[in-house]
Amino acid sequence: MSVWHIAGGRRLSGSVRVQGAKNAVLPIMAASVLAPCLTELTNVPELRDVDATIRILRGLGCAVERQGGAVSIDSRPLARAEIPHSLMRELRSSVIFLGALLGRCSGARLSMPGGCELGPRPIDLHLMSLRALGAEIDERAGELVCSVPQGLRGAAIALPLPSVGATENAMLAACLARGETVIMNAAREPEIAELQNFLNKLGADVSGAGTPTVTIRGRPLDPGRVEHRIMPDRIVSSTYLAACAAAGGDIELTGVNPTHFSTVLRSLSECGCDIMADGGGVRLVSSGNLRAPMPVITGPYPAFPTDAQPLMLSACLRARGTSVFVENVFQNRFRFTEELARLGARIHTEGRVAVVTGVEALHGAPAVATDLRGGAALIIAALSAEGETDILDSGHIERGYERFDANLRALGADITLIDTKGP
Ligand code: UD1
Repeated sequence: MSVWHIAGGRRLSGSVRVQGAKNAVLPIMAASVLAPCLTELTNVPELRDVDATIRILRGLGCAVERQGGAVSIDSRPLARAEIPHSLMRELRSSVIFLGALLGRCSGARLSMPGGCELGPRPIDLHLMSLRALGAEIDERAGELVCSVPQGLRGAAIALPLPSVGATENAMLAACLARGETVIMNAAREPEIAELQNFLNKLGADVSGAGTPTVTIRGRPLDPGRVEHRIMPDRIVSSTYLAACAAAGGDIELTGVNPTHFSTVLRSLSECGCDIMADGGGVRLVSSGNLRAPMPVITGPYPAFPTDAQPLMLSACLRARGTSVFVENVFQNRFRFTEELARLGARIHTEGRVAVVTGVEALHGAPAVATDLRGGAALIIAALSAEGETDILDSGHIERGYERFDANLRALGADITLIDTKGP
């Protein structure tokens, strides 16, 4: 258990180099087991979810070494295709190993990933896609027992909705399938294009990522050694910008790709922030006196990202007028708003819609991080509140942010992370 102690009301200024993307590195680490090879990754963020993925890889028999942001994975000694429940429950996205293990080992045994703080997290589309590629999947007693008796074969897969994880799982399995696979209504997130780049370095033939149609021509992979630098994290970028928008100040992000979060930049600009973006950097200047933006409506990329919704909502708590948020991706993504109310926020939620009425000031209060981005939203609110806030966190925020407290301190925030060592 940790406590984030924040004394609010300080403007932020300075520069942050943004970490590598959590949602890009996890599927790439899973993809590293597709073929026996040595994968050298750089710009890997130091996060709990990455640690858990390393434990999964070691459990499968891979040799993994980590030195700061450099991770090397030797998948040649892979000896098992099973992931125990204790590891699966740490990391929902471990289900992406299914496609890679089916490709490499023609079988896999995983425990069923459960729901999460954001509501039910079904994997029906993952399983539908893998079955289309020839997998036989037995769902019994919380376990997925999978085999490919006839080998994987290419298929046309039409996703009813553009699920990021299902697209990734299908891409991984299809790399080693016989013939061509076409994924229609594929997710278009930048992390999908990043996975395509990595798979092609492994020797796969994948094209179309970033569009609704991804095509994979299956063929044997014999990569030897592969190097890859992880792309910058667009949600972490959005977090620092939202924090500066709310608290006021002048910050610069380096090593980022602003085109990946242009919807967030647009909303922040509608709030009255001055934003200057170029190839690898973004500068945001905020007076701290914002106005409500146009309604923020989340959806699959290129729409406004659901992961940035709590961050943007938090930036609008003191904005003049009424800010409206429509959450179209996850059912239960407004739980954090009850915690924001403790700081004096006025938020009314009904189903998929949250309406924020801007208040003059927020005040410090004890609060609880309900999930990763909801926790980050609380930090943003606390930075712009008068007085002190303690945010109790059972590890959610450190799943996604590397050196968050140190980076915010470097920007002038008064924030301390206290590890209480409790359960
Ligand atoms: C990924 C991201 C997560 C982000 C989400 C949406 C990773 C590790 N996580 O999660 O941070 O919030 O994309 O941008 O990359 N769905 C089904 N059946 C399925 C799969 C998904 O109904 O088999 C539904 C989900 O319940 C959800 C929606 O589809 O409502 C989107 O989920 P999906 O795109 O699959 O998200 P993840 O890949 O889990």
